[in-house]
Amino acid sequence: MAIERTLSIVKPDAVRKNHIGGVLAKLEGAGLTIIGAKLIKLSQEQAGAFYGVHRERSFFQELVDFMTSGPIMVQVLEGENAILRNREVMGATDPAKAEAGTIRAEYGADIGENAVHGSDAPDTARTEIAFFFAESELQSR
Ligand code: CMP
Repeated sequence: MAIERTLSIVKPDAVRKNHIGGVLAKLEGAGLTIIGAKLIKLSQEQAGAFYGVHRERSFFQELVDFMTSGPIMVQVLEGENAILRNREVMGATDPAKAEAGTIRAEYGADIGENAVHGSDAPDTARTEIAFFFAESELQSR
């Protein structure tokens, strides 16, 4: 199986509730290795650019306002099948539909405040990692 990299974000709701450690423990527990991480606060421009594919959606401004409402923790995860593995441990986008034991089931409140983001495919993973990290900031191992 291929070793992949994917971008993961602990969103402002989970950071506010002191769940950074809980989220990262679940990611590491799923066999994913953190090879880069930073705590940052996005500007409206940065959040709008990151979620640019959703620009025409009704919830776009709500999403941007939420993602800029406090610090986020961004990390690059590496491992076998990392993109799918991360999505499995995150659970469904709507926490009400997420399987028990997943991050969103445990830490998410609703479809907007859903604790985490994860890249959904290899091309978006590449783009999203490059949005936050230079290659020199990643410690592959
Ligand atoms: P994420 O994985 O970060 O990718 C896009 C985000 O848009 C998604 O998680 C949700 O948090 C958010 N989102 C999707 N649908 C809605 C909605 N109906 N209302 C508010 N936010 C939404």
